[in-house]
Amino acid sequence: MKKFLFVCLGNICRSPAAEGAFRYLADKSGRLGEFVIDSAGTGDWHIGCPPDERSQAACLDAGFNISSHRARQVDLGDFYAFDLILACDQQNYNDLLRMAPPDATARVELLMSYAKDQGVMAISDPYYGGSRGFTRAIELCLAAAQGLLKAY
Ligand code: 4NP
Repeated sequence: MKKFLFVCLGNICRSPAAEGAFRYLADKSGRLGEFVIDSAGTGDWHIGCPPDERSQAACLDAGFNISSHRARQVDLGDFYAFDLILACDQQNYNDLLRMAPPDATARVELLMSYAKDQGVMAISDPYYGGSRGFTRAIELCLAAAQGLLKAY
């Protein structure tokens, strides 16, 4: 089993969408059983909350449903339980490296490194913007999920 954790700040917009995009594409290609996937946030503000309505709507438009997700915060056990911890932006990446125990077995990477053709290394935070930002974030999540699936 390959174990991937998708991480953003709040775990209500980008990382639940990235997890959902990966689940959707892995399922479509008949490979869902090969993976353990989850998402989490570096922050604690939204623990227990469902995804932001705007992220849920943009995911539904793209063909997948993330409504059952509940936000959780990254914990130290994640650095041993997962093979890859995939950060949505540079701040998430820096925060994860700062948190990582010295003997962590998970590798921390930027999620967009799996979709270099998109020309961006981050999925920028859509939380304070309009719905267009969510549509763009989900496009990037799908591109990265496709690249990740191809790489593994
Ligand atoms: P996310 O978006 O990191 O993609 O889940 C955010 C959600 C909430 C906040 C920031 C970003 N916040 O500041 O509450």
